[in-house]
Amino acid sequence: MNIILLGPPGAGKGTQAKKIAEHYSLPHISTGDILRENISNNTSLGVKAKSYMAKGELVPDELLITIIRDRLSKPDCSKGFLLDGYPRTVPQADALQMILTESNKKLDIVLNIDVDDEELIKRLSGRRVCASCGMSYHMIFNPPKEDEICDKCKGKLYQREDDKPEAIRNRLMVYKKQTQPLIEYYTRKGLLRMVDGGKDIPEIFEDIKKILENYD
Ligand code: AP5
Ligand code: MG
Repeated sequence: MNIILLGPPGAGKGTQAKKIAEHYSLPHISTGDILRENISNNTSLGVKAKSYMAKGELVPDELLITIIRDRLSKPDCSKGFLLDGYPRTVPQADALQMILTESNKKLDIVLNIDVDDEELIKRLSGRRVCASCGMSYHMIFNPPKEDEICDKCKGKLYQREDDKPEAIRNRLMVYKKQTQPLIEYYTRKGLLRMVDGGKDIPEIFEDIKKILENYD
């Protein structure tokens, strides 16, 4: 199964992606995680991406297209993949289409996780992320068992630079302008399925499994 998870910042893409990837044994490809890893390793890609990400702007398309082309060519993607945070612009979606066609693959489904703005702001401002495994927590909605420590790997939790109020506002604006048009883009291709992201985490996962059962 080749899946895209679409949705605004804070919708729960990363949270649901971890569950889907584990349940269906798919590689979870988060461009945000790839970029953050490059920043922490101080690679040339990380240096280029850092200032865009801190402000909540999108990193230029050509860098992302190179990342995705490279990642999708890895052997673990041969039986399917789960994209989280890519594509985010129409040129990125067109490039993905080309990359898949070149390797005789196709998209099966695009899940759009829908959440209202007020809830997104609450989710992003209370988020904490594990520095080791990337697991997302929320101080109120999904707290770790031990304060500031990851339940899964005991890594230390931190607040993302772009989860500060100014960057959150900008990310929501950028999403509306540059990423939201993809809803129409994938609707026209007959691939889009809506997911009500306002429910709690396990309920959303159950809804997603019901949708994906038809593609198993
Ligand atoms: P990225 O890391 O992809 O961030 P994002 O899209 O802004 O999304 P988030 O990771 O903030 O939210 P999420 O939907 O994963 O929510 P989560 O599950 O964590 O990208 C970061 C930056 O990298 C971009 O701004 C850009 O600069 C750059 N970038 C990345 N990809 C790019 C691309 N393709 N092109 C250009 N630039 C790119 O959940 C959020 C919080 O809510 C957590 O605290 C969680 O515990 C909680 N939560 C989750 N579900 C629920 C629920 N149902 N109820 C209550 N709380 C919940
Ligand atoms: Mg995420």
